[in-house]
Amino acid sequence: MKIGIDSIAFSTSKYFLSLDVLAQQRNVDCEKYCFGIGQKKMSIFPPNEDIVTIAIDAAQKILSQIENKKDIDMLIFATESSFDISKSAGIYIHHFLGLKDDCRVFDVKQACYSATAALQLAKAYVNSNHRSKVLIIGSDIVRYSPGTSGEPTQGGAAVAFIVSQNPRILEIEPHFGAYTTDIMDFWRPISMKEALFDGKLSAHNYLKSLEICTKRYFEKSNLAISDVDHVCFHAPFGKMARKANNQLLKSKTIEETLIYNSIIGNSCSASLYVSFISLMDNFKCDFSKKRICFFSYGSGSVAEFFSGIISENYKKMLKAEEHQTMLSQRIEISFSEYESLHSNDFNDFSAYQNVGNVILSGIVDNKRIYVSMEDNN
Ligand code: CAA
Repeated sequence: MKIGIDSIAFSTSKYFLSLDVLAQQRNVDCEKYCFGIGQKKMSIFPPNEDIVTIAIDAAQKILSQIENKKDIDMLIFATESSFDISKSAGIYIHHFLGLKDDCRVFDVKQACYSATAALQLAKAYVNSNHRSKVLIIGSDIVRYSPGTSGEPTQGGAAVAFIVSQNPRILEIEPHFGAYTTDIMDFWRPISMKEALFDGKLSAHNYLKSLEICTKRYFEKSNLAISDVDHVCFHAPFGKMARKANNQLLKSKTIEETLIYNSIIGNSCSASLYVSFISLMDNFKCDFSKKRICFFSYGSGSVAEFFSGIISENYKKMLKAEEHQTMLSQRIEISFSEYESLHSNDFNDFSAYQNVGNVILSGIVDNKRIYVSMEDNN
């Protein structure tokens, strides 16, 4: 049975900071951010937007593509930016999407790898529950302390995709190469809002994991690099993905995979799938029956290299226009606005626009209050 990605879309904040502005303020050569790191802009989130609100927006973009949303009987929410270590953030999303209550909902975490864990879990689940559809959402907002080397690689986005039988976009193949090792390259203690990291170690371990995972993938699959048409990488920043591409196969389409990530910034669990959407939306060719490989890396660390075959007629499932409209309507903020949004999370919940129709309207007694603007109209 063919199982894989049946529909896919992403969402990000209405607001961004240009890295030229950040470079000027930090007294860094703009070329370093643009070419040395490979990023142009980063999404910045207002207090009324979080991993839940952008996740709902991403999911709403694809729900109209399935015949009956009652077929969704599992929602897996992948994130490393969780605000609650007990209640699953997926439950808020389940509510606002109006999914049936006979639907399992839970969060998964393993840094930027978690949406891939969810994908493989969903594939196995659909294999034994043929009529099931699983909604997977990877949603993250990446925050580093101001002035650190990680600062220009902040960002955030949510990606939503449905895993089902007879997928209309990508059939996931059985072969994979995985690698897990205990390493302190990037972590965020529960008490902290900003991630801690050892940048050089993380970049080294990313490339080492790629080498090990690809070796295992090619050994298990009996495929050769010449059987691969395109590769999408987890892209914490563009240069990392370009280095990975140079190490692996020098795919010519690497630039198309980075178009969206270079203006969103790191979106952790969503990043790899934003690379895939970016390739599909922006590289003008017929991908039908092509083999796309994926490299997923989550610090700490777990990595996986896997592949899929693009379905025929995938084009009508793409949301390129919606993605491009969303990105073109973003609003640039000044450096001082960035500083206040970074330092002052929960002051004014109403001063900013949201990308979608559900907003975080406040936090009362430590309870997050989400409101649908559609209900208010
Ligand atoms: N013009 C052009 N290029 C310039 C330049 C200039 N004026 N000045 C410097 N550069 C180049 C450097 O030569 C270097 O290029 P190479 O990597 O090809 O050698 C590049 O810009 C970066 O410069 P530095 O080596 O000085 O790096 P830095 O100290 O500024 O830190 C970073 C860069 C390590 C990526 C840092 O941003 C960081 O730690 N980020 C967070 C951690 C991270 O994202 N790690 C990625 C792997 S982990 C992962 O993937 C999980 C995850 O999502 C977090």
